[in-house]
Amino acid sequence: MKRILIAIFVLLTVIPAKADEGMWLPVLINQRIKDMRAKGFKLKAEDVYSVNKACLKDAVVLFGSGCTGELVSDKGLLFTNHHCGYGQIQKHSSVEHDYLKDGFWAMNLKEELPNRGLTVSFLEYMEDVTEKVLAGYETWMSEKQRDSLIRVNSRALVSNATKAGNGLRANVEALFYGNQYFLFVFRTFRDIRLVGAPPSSIGKFGGDTDNWMWPRHTGDFAIFRIYADKDNNPADYSEDNVPYKPKKFFKISRKGVKEGDFTFVYGCPGSTKQYITSDEVEYIGNISDPQKIELRTKRLDIMKKYMAKSPVVRIQYSSKAASVSNAWKKWQGEAKGLKRMATVAKKKAYQQRFRQWAKGTRYEGLLEKLEKLYAERKPYFIAYEYYTETIRAVEILNFASDLRNNLKNPKVRSNIAEVFFKDYYQQIDEEVFVAMIQAFADNIPEDFQPQYFKDQLKAYGSVEAWQKDLFSKTIFTDKERVLALEPKDKELVEADPAIRLADAFGEWLAESLRPHLNNLNNQIRLAYRDYMQGQMDFEPNKQFYPDANLTLRIAYGKVQGYSPADGVYYTPVSTLKGIIEKDNPDIFDYNIPQTLRDIYAAGGYENQPVCFLATNHTTGGNSGSPIINADGNLVGINFDRVWEGTMSDLVYDPEVCRNISLDIRYLLFNIEHIGKASYLFDEMVFAD
Ligand code: ARG
Ligand code: GLU
Repeated sequence: MKRILIAIFVLLTVIPAKADEGMWLPVLINQRIKDMRAKGFKLKAEDVYSVNKACLKDAVVLFGSGCTGELVSDKGLLFTNHHCGYGQIQKHSSVEHDYLKDGFWAMNLKEELPNRGLTVSFLEYMEDVTEKVLAGYETWMSEKQRDSLIRVNSRALVSNATKAGNGLRANVEALFYGNQYFLFVFRTFRDIRLVGAPPSSIGKFGGDTDNWMWPRHTGDFAIFRIYADKDNNPADYSEDNVPYKPKKFFKISRKGVKEGDFTFVYGCPGSTKQYITSDEVEYIGNISDPQKIELRTKRLDIMKKYMAKSPVVRIQYSSKAASVSNAWKKWQGEAKGLKRMATVAKKKAYQQRFRQWAKGTRYEGLLEKLEKLYAERKPYFIAYEYYTETIRAVEILNFASDLRNNLKNPKVRSNIAEVFFKDYYQQIDEEVFVAMIQAFADNIPEDFQPQYFKDQLKAYGSVEAWQKDLFSKTIFTDKERVLALEPKDKELVEADPAIRLADAFGEWLAESLRPHLNNLNNQIRLAYRDYMQGQMDFEPNKQFYPDANLTLRIAYGKVQGYSPADGVYYTPVSTLKGIIEKDNPDIFDYNIPQTLRDIYAAGGYENQPVCFLATNHTTGGNSGSPIINADGNLVGINFDRVWEGTMSDLVYDPEVCRNISLDIRYLLFNIEHIGKASYLFDEMVFAD
C-alpha cells in the first residue's frame, strides 16, 4: 500500500502544468519560450518581452480599467472589443445619433470623438522586487510590522520608478499571495478617441443569447486612437494633440487560422484563483454562484420586461442589463463546470495528500486552520454578497449617496445627476427595489440585518408599502429638485428616505460586517501565503503561474474545437454563413443590418470567417487582447470564453476550456463593407 502511495505521489509531482493551461509572466518568458517554440511559435524570447528593444509587449495596452487593446499602426490606431468601448459608444449616442444602433465611423482624424476619463496604459517594464520590498524584515516582526514595512518599501520603489513624470505610474503587486512581489511600471495616455465601431447588430450580434457560447458570430470590435502631445508624451485632451507614435505595433495577418495552429494571447487577465482549498471552491460553486444567479435572474426579468416595451428604455438599460447578465451567465457555467470536474472532491483528495506530507513540517495544521477560518467567515460573507447583489442593485440608493457625498461640489454634482437621469427608468428601479429588499429580508437571518431595516419593514408591514412611500417622498427621483440642491440643503438631504436607507446599510457594513470580514480575510490571506508556498514545496517539479491580477500575461495554445456534450463536437471556425442562418428580423439579438444581407446575397462571402476557438487560458480582462500567430502577427481579437469552460478561473480543463476570438479578417471586412472606411487600411501593415 505504502509503495503504491509513493508511486502515485511521484507520478503526481512530476506532471507539469496541463497542456495550454497557464497565464505566464512575460518577464519570465525564458522559462516558456522553449515550449512555445516546440508548439510552433517562431519568434524569440526578446521579441515577446524585452526592456532594451521594442517588442510585442510595447504594442499591448491595458484599455480603460478592465480590458486589453493592441496597437495596429504607427499613428496610434488601436483595436479592442465593442463591449470594451461600449460605455464610450453609448455616451456619444442619443436617439438622433444612435451610434450603438447604427455604428460610428470617423472619416478622418477631425471626426474622431474624444472620451473623457478613458485611458490606456503601456507596460514599460516589470521587475521582481521581492528582496527590495522585504528589505529590513526580521523574523521576529509581527504581520502588522511586516505589512507596514512592505508599504513603506513599495512606496519608495513606486516613487523612484515614476519620478520622471510623463504619465508614468507604478504599482507593486503581491504575487503568489505575497510570496513574491513585482513592480509594474506603466505609461498612461489619456487622450483616446473613438475611430470606429460597427452597429450593435454586428458588434453585439447574438447579444446575451449567444454570450459565452459557441457557435459565435459576434463582430466584437471597436477602433480607437491614442493621442499625445507634440513630443509624443501623454497629455490631457487638446485639439493640438497628435496621433501617438508607438514603439511597436502589430502587423496584421490575413492568412487566417485552422485547427491545430499555434496561438498566443498577450493581455491583462483580471482575476483567477487556482490555488484555493476545497472549502472555497465549495462556497463558490454551491452557495455564492447559485444565490447570485437567482438574484440576478429576478433583476434581469424586470429590466427585460420594460426594455421590450420601449426603444428609449432599451437604450437606457442596454449597458446595465448586459453587465448584469454577463456574470450571471458565466456563474452558471462555472458552477456546472466545477460539479462536472468534481473539483471539490479532487481538491479534498489533494489536501489529504498534502496533510500527510505536511506532518512534522511548518505546514502542519495549516489546512485545518483555513477550514476553521472559512467556517467562521461564511455567514458574514453570505450577508456581504447578498448586500452587494440586492441593496447595491437599487439605483436610487447609489445615486442618492453619490450626490450627497458631492453636495459641496456643484460641477461634480450636476455631472452625476445628468449621467444618472439620462439612463434612469423609475419603474424598473421600483420593481427592483421590491424584489431585492424582499430577497434580503427573506434570506438573511434577522440578527444579521441592520436594525433600521428591520424597523422600517415592520412599520410598513410590507416591502411594497415601503417602496411606494420611499419613492413618493425621496427627492432623488426629481431631476429639477436634484439639480437645484445646494450645500445648505444638507439637512433635507440627510433626512431623505433613500439616504436614510443607504446610510443604515453603510453603517451596518462598516460596524457589523467589515470588522469581522476584514479580520477573517486578512487571516485567510496570511494562511494562503503559507499554503501557496506549501503547495510549491509539495510539488517541486510543477510549474506554477501566479493568479491573474490584471497584469500583463502570456497564454499560448492552439486553435481547437471541443465537445460540449456527448455526441456533439464543435468545429473551431465560424463564418458569415452562420450569421445568415441565425438572421431573423423579429429577434432583436439576431436582426442584422440590411447591408449585410445584401452583401451576402450578392455572393462570394459564404466562407467569410467570423470567429474562432482556441485553447488559450484567458479570463475577464483578456477582452480585446491580441491573438497572435506563430509568426507574431495579429490574427484575431480575444473577446470571450465558452461557458462550459468558465470554471477555468479556478480549474482549467483542456477538454473544454476555449477562448473565443474575432477573426481579424471579419474586422477588415466590416471596415470595408459596413463602415466604408477603407482609408484606415493605409496606415495598417499587412504581413501576408
Ligand atoms: N462575455 C464577454 C465578457 O465577459 C462579453 C460580454 C459582453 N457581451 C454581452 N452580451 N453582455 O466580457
Ligand atoms: N469578455 C471577457 C472580458 O471582458 C472575456 C471573457 C472571459 O472572461 O474570458 O474580458
